[in-house]
Amino acid sequence: MQQAETTSQKKVGVLIGGSGLIGGTLAHYFKTKTPDNIEIRAPSSKKLSIRNAEDIRDYLKRVRPDFLINAAIANIDSDSLLAFEVNYLGALNLARASSALNIPYIHISSAATLPNGVNLVEDDHLPITAKLNNYAKSKLMAETTLRHMHKTAGLDYTAIRLAVVYGEHDHKIQGFHRLFFSIADESMPVLFTKKGVKHSYSNANKLPYVIHHVLKNREEFSGETYHFVDPSPVELDDLILTIKSYLELKSPREVYVPYPLAKTGKKVLELLLRFLSRIGINGGLPAELMFLESFYKTQTLSVRKLQQSSFVDPLPDENIYTKLPALVIYYLTRWSHQNLIATFNEVMLAPNVMENEFANNPQELLDSIHTDSAGPFKSLLDLKPK
Ligand SMILES: NC(=O)c1ccc[n+]([C@@H]2O[C@H](COP(=O)([O-])OP(=O)(O)OC[C@H]3O[C@@H](n4cnc5c(N)ncnc54)[C@H](OP(=O)(O)O)[C@@H]3O)[C@@H](O)[C@H]2O)c1
Repeated sequence: MQQAETTSQKKVGVLIGGSGLIGGTLAHYFKTKTPDNIEIRAPSSKKLSIRNAEDIRDYLKRVRPDFLINAAIANIDSDSLLAFEVNYLGALNLARASSALNIPYIHISSAATLPNGVNLVEDDHLPITAKLNNYAKSKLMAETTLRHMHKTAGLDYTAIRLAVVYGEHDHKIQGFHRLFFSIADESMPVLFTKKGVKHSYSNANKLPYVIHHVLKNREEFSGETYHFVDPSPVELDDLILTIKSYLELKSPREVYVPYPLAKTGKKVLELLLRFLSRIGINGGLPAELMFLESFYKTQTLSVRKLQQSSFVDPLPDENIYTKLPALVIYYLTRWSHQNLIATFNEVMLAPNVMENEFANNPQELLDSIHTDSAGPFKSLLDLKPK
């Protein structure tokens, strides 16, 4: 993939995790922004599980890709075996395959590998210890092995660390979107943070531009890790209160719950849920609560290394605040269609004529479709065997 891929040089890339938040955004980018010169294959985990080295070998022998991108991850609250196998062994398997095929391996990593603190740089990382949660431990081990394989076997890889990701198409409602959901759902009565706590945020829509650039400039980016976050960190309480005001809601109230109290509350809820499960009532707390402490501690990532590279941000004015209106419309529409929330101001969403007709005049809708829109697609007629 050295230097620009010309239109005549078609490249094939294998993207793992293409149904996820990050992978889905990457697949969409390569399909719409580079339609002719990059073809992306994005097998589901049912077709290719990265836990299984043989699956990977068989698939890659058939596809013979020019690069690999790994945006797969086990659920954040997975047990240690699944986290180890998907997040660590999966990454190792893909890196070994890349090394054998001598093709670039792009690895998506996480700020979970970093300690708390401000302006953290790419060389910073947590020490690997038994008490780390499964997610952080497995992501940290993967980063360490990639560095090792680059040094010892010349693995051509780039790791990109993301912080809290925002963007459309998060079908699982995780991370930032879980926070947003609990505000929209009015299940956050008060603020579980303290004043001044800041975090870095990663814009999913911009990430594909970085990855594309990194793939085109291997000499510069090979063997390196980069932070990919918006340059300005964001105060958590301000973000929550801004979302609340967009949604025109009364909660959460501007009351800051101290960490010890929040921690005790979480423990009480866990005990209550354990008790309820004994009498057949099953429920669970959002997985993100395992990061409760992070709501009370600042963690911001330095963007200097990427800014000093040859990559130029295509949308320098876009950040989580400028994206909020679009995210609000996207997720409120989605969650209301899924009957997940019902308490927001419906005026914010443009009415959908079809939906209205489907709900109130199904026979008229059917008649109008039969009259105007039930013929064969004109643009496909030429493909019909003569
Ligand atoms: N979202 C965030 O806020 C955030 C923050 C920091 C870093 N990151 C990093 O970004 C990357 C992508 O995260 P995401 O939020 O996009 O995840 P996601 O939405 O949960 O998607 C996970 C993807 O992994 C795939 N997958 C799971 N197990 C697999 C297996 N055994 N073999 C192959 N594929 C498998 C899933 O495929 P199927 O659906 O087919 O099972 C799915 O496409 C991860 O490296 C994560 O650490 C995310």
